[in-house]
Amino acid sequence: MITVKDNVFRLDTENTTYIFRITKFGHLEHVYYGSLLDQDDSADVMAQKSSVSIGSSICYDGSDKLYSLDNMCLEWSDNGRGDYRQSPAELKMPDDTFISDFAYLSHRIIDGSVPMKTLPSSYGGDQTLEITLKDTTSDVFLDLYYTVFEKADCITRRAVLKNESDDPLIIRRIMSMMVDLPDECFHMYTLDGGWIKEAHLHKIPVGYGMTINSSTTGSSSNRHNPAFMLASDIATEDHGNVYGFNLIYSGNHFGSAEKSGRDIVRVSAGINPHLFEWILNKNEDFETPEAVLTFSDKGFNGMSHNMHDFVNRHIVRGQWKEKERPVLFNNWEATFFDFNESKLLQLAKTAKSLGAELFVLDDGWFGERNSDEAGLGDYNVNKKKFPRGLKSFADKIREMGMDFGLWFEPEMVNPDSSLYRAHPEYAVKSPDKKPVLGRNQMVLDICNKEVRDYIVENVGRILDETGASYVKWDMNRHIAEAFSPAISNQGEFYHRYIMGLYDILSRIFDKRPHILLESCSSGGNRFDLGMLCYSPQVWTSDDTDPIERLKIQGGLSYFYPPSTMGAHVSQSPHQQTLRDTPLSTRFNVACFGCLGYELDLKYLSHEEIKEIKEQIAFYKKYRRVFQYGRFTRIRESRGKENKVIWQSTSNDGALALTGFFQTQAAAAESDDKLIVTGLRPGRYVVRTRPQRLFIKRFGGLVKHILPVELNPDGLVLRMANRFYSLTDCVEEYECSDKALKAGIPLKSQFMGTGYNENVRMLGDFGSNIYITHITTSQSRREEE
Ligand code: GLA
Repeated sequence: MITVKDNVFRLDTENTTYIFRITKFGHLEHVYYGSLLDQDDSADVMAQKSSVSIGSSICYDGSDKLYSLDNMCLEWSDNGRGDYRQSPAELKMPDDTFISDFAYLSHRIIDGSVPMKTLPSSYGGDQTLEITLKDTTSDVFLDLYYTVFEKADCITRRAVLKNESDDPLIIRRIMSMMVDLPDECFHMYTLDGGWIKEAHLHKIPVGYGMTINSSTTGSSSNRHNPAFMLASDIATEDHGNVYGFNLIYSGNHFGSAEKSGRDIVRVSAGINPHLFEWILNKNEDFETPEAVLTFSDKGFNGMSHNMHDFVNRHIVRGQWKEKERPVLFNNWEATFFDFNESKLLQLAKTAKSLGAELFVLDDGWFGERNSDEAGLGDYNVNKKKFPRGLKSFADKIREMGMDFGLWFEPEMVNPDSSLYRAHPEYAVKSPDKKPVLGRNQMVLDICNKEVRDYIVENVGRILDETGASYVKWDMNRHIAEAFSPAISNQGEFYHRYIMGLYDILSRIFDKRPHILLESCSSGGNRFDLGMLCYSPQVWTSDDTDPIERLKIQGGLSYFYPPSTMGAHVSQSPHQQTLRDTPLSTRFNVACFGCLGYELDLKYLSHEEIKEIKEQIAFYKKYRRVFQYGRFTRIRESRGKENKVIWQSTSNDGALALTGFFQTQAAAAESDDKLIVTGLRPGRYVVRTRPQRLFIKRFGGLVKHILPVELNPDGLVLRMANRFYSLTDCVEEYECSDKALKAGIPLKSQFMGTGYNENVRMLGDFGSNIYITHITTSQSRREEE
């Protein structure tokens, strides 16, 4: 709810309050952002008390010696008025100075969200506050938008700059939002990494000066995700104050926390000013991307729950919103470029028999694409691989009872392609320097409408011809030489590229709303809210090693719900790490996302086939909870660092699925506890999901578990492993939600003193899923 009274603006969500007010000089003073306040709590009480002038400060107006912008908490701040912290904007004003001074002019409250003209934005907000500020001496206006999402406890902010003066204005930097918060010994938490190690969580103390989270690769990047948190130093997963920030944008982003000598932390987020310059002529305006803010006093999990609700309800849209995602099979890690129709049909047949619902044909189906050195940019089907064409192949997949999906990398071109030979000018390159390549490819200049039309036409045509109902949209290199002959000011390149991308995506997919789009950029190089406005899910990482995925999916889980994360079971030892992990763990991690399989199925043993069938059947039964349940990170009660515990709870609180993962075994480890939180009051049965224990895991120890002696390296054991497996320890208990919240001790782990069915055989990389379900008698009692 938004209320305005006596120059005070108050934005309430179900559990948070945000207050700011207009000062006597028309600036917007930030008053409070945090847990919900009483309606009677006044801004005067909550605001900073400024009762003495501070030395070494600039006084804004001689009439008030205490009014120094540098020492205030603000909602927006300018250059040249005595605030030395970083301004959210660096503008060369129409009078050729860098001095601006935006003061309140008017405001209005609008029902719902206000869509943007040039960028994707959230939808379904409750109310929007639009505040118009005007520069005190020129006809330059700044509209600040605040949209409130009451149930998700989120607020979005963005700014629109309008030039109504006769002379141009040059924007060198403009943030979507800034806010000054009193410090709470904040730490900034960011999601950083690179290819195959995306979104690892890092914690940096917010010291005096700037702490920055930004990307410059042309995309939101796997180096630094746009999302970041500020948390008080006492915050834990379940307690303490945590602020979350994100940006609905897929290009270069910039987020910062700047702590001043007065212990005020200025938080900003927006387009990265790196190589950015935008010329705003008379009567033009510039929209910044929408920034998302949330706060929770219930720790990191509380913050994540808000962001998850926001993404599922206010970002992901169209027919796939809150819809269960299919279990897919993707041929990439099975075949790479080395396939033909019959090989794929064989894989598809097995995939179908295992329970897959969608077959995805990855890279290599077009042009001369037999390696990553050629073919990108071309859309003619490779006749050697598909002599009867792609439609005929897609039809065969559908005849088997699966949907058909297709990989594209439309923003790219190989120099060795028909497209490049015909239109070298379509590629992004410096006008006079030798082009630099990444993965043997160049970026297409989608600032140019002709290039966008080429992509829209060709991708659309193939989709219609093949009847594909899923698209994997890849983007496998960073932008380096940002130059486009199609635009006059090269400082606009990066932003125009992203606007071009959004234009292409809308033109292709708005009229084909049934298609499930999975965005990918060498994995999670563009895992951001901008892409999620078009693609309900993202290929999280090229790394399918489940132990690495604990860090990757775990990191992303701070901001993005499992429904957005593509997660596949692949072959072990893993392509990316050489690590050998159990099939059970590969599934147990992947099921906390949109499940897929991506491995050569022809080598699966009899036992592995049985295991995968059981996995897929189990996933389908609980898919809703895995994809849309309340995802929570559980803290191991003794602070064991070799455990990761994830829980997804059904919306009615009567069912929880816990993934209990051991990253490394520890000798003679103390008992583990299973903690299940967030259940509604009642009696519960908790049970381990049965999973197979493959005997090859035991090596020479096999003599302890089998009655016969076998050569650990011999043929007999290898054959036995294909046709015989043990059941991993299954536990079952009945107890109350309270006992589960306190944590119930689990059976002992293997410690070299013998194996029986009551010993949990985790070892390195072992894991289990526990299903906690309200008892039938309890649910019957509740119904009566
Ligand atoms: C990228 C993707 C992979 C796969 C390959 C194909 O690396 O992330 O999943 O599609 O491209 O070239």
